[in-house]
Amino acid sequence: MTSKVRTLIAGVVLVALVIGGSVLLLGPGDPEGDHRVFLFEYFTEGSVGAEIGVWEGDFSVKMLQEIRPSKLHLIDPWAFEKSEEYKEAWYGGEGGQQEMDARYEGVLSRFDDEIDAGTVVVHRQPSDVASGAFRDEYFDWVYIDGNHLYEFVKKDLELYYSKVKTGGYITGDDYVRTGWWEGGVKKALDEFLEKNQVELVELRSTQFVLKKGPPSFGGRVRAQFLKTRSDLRWISRRGRGFLSRMVGLS
Ligand SMILES: C[S@@+](CC[C@H](N)C(=O)[O-])C[C@H]1O[C@@H](n2cnc3c(N)ncnc32)[C@H](O)[C@@H]1O
Repeated sequence: MTSKVRTLIAGVVLVALVIGGSVLLLGPGDPEGDHRVFLFEYFTEGSVGAEIGVWEGDFSVKMLQEIRPSKLHLIDPWAFEKSEEYKEAWYGGEGGQQEMDARYEGVLSRFDDEIDAGTVVVHRQPSDVASGAFRDEYFDWVYIDGNHLYEFVKKDLELYYSKVKTGGYITGDDYVRTGWWEGGVKKALDEFLEKNQVELVELRSTQFVLKKGPPSFGGRVRAQFLKTRSDLRWISRRGRGFLSRMVGLS
């Protein structure tokens, strides 16, 4: 047997061990489907919340139906981004400002009744600008799903941290290493965790949940476990991709 073949076999065995081990230890991961509904367990009826990055309001509808907040702030500039950096973003690439204007109008008419009742407040502004309208410790929770680039997520976390009550939740989407935003959400969140009085309480299906306040010892251990599990799942997915490419499945 040549050394090349031996190296190949060793590589395959190693990858299989990593995949098998992580699947056995961690389970197959979260099922597809509406993978974000679990977040609503953290948001109580009558709470005050915000969705940063609204798009057409599909998730906002679910928030209203499932949480029944007393106030839901919808924050989005509905601005088309022309630059190359955004060519794969929902609000870049093909399309243009006209479509974004139509989306904004669509949201206004979709939540017509709730806006009249004062339950929904729409802020057509970037999240950093909109943050100036809220006093400190105003929100019970925020959901961050706006611009996913590192600097923007970093700013969202910093600005909205002070706007959320102690004991409230800072949550968000797309805690992954990949995407057109090149892992910006993950990088910003990991750094934020190191520097602030906040506890990572859940990482599930690319969603993150932080609780504002000093983490307990148990909370720190749990946060480390969640991050390690997320790392192992990533390795496991990469390994599965590598293996299926090797055996010609993709
Ligand atoms: C992925 S979509 C949001 C999807 C929505 N949360 C949902 O679940 O249906 C991202 C949105 O972020 C918005 N956005 C981009 N930059 C933003 C910023 N600086 N502040 C707030 N929203 C922003 C975009 O206009 C777009 O509508």
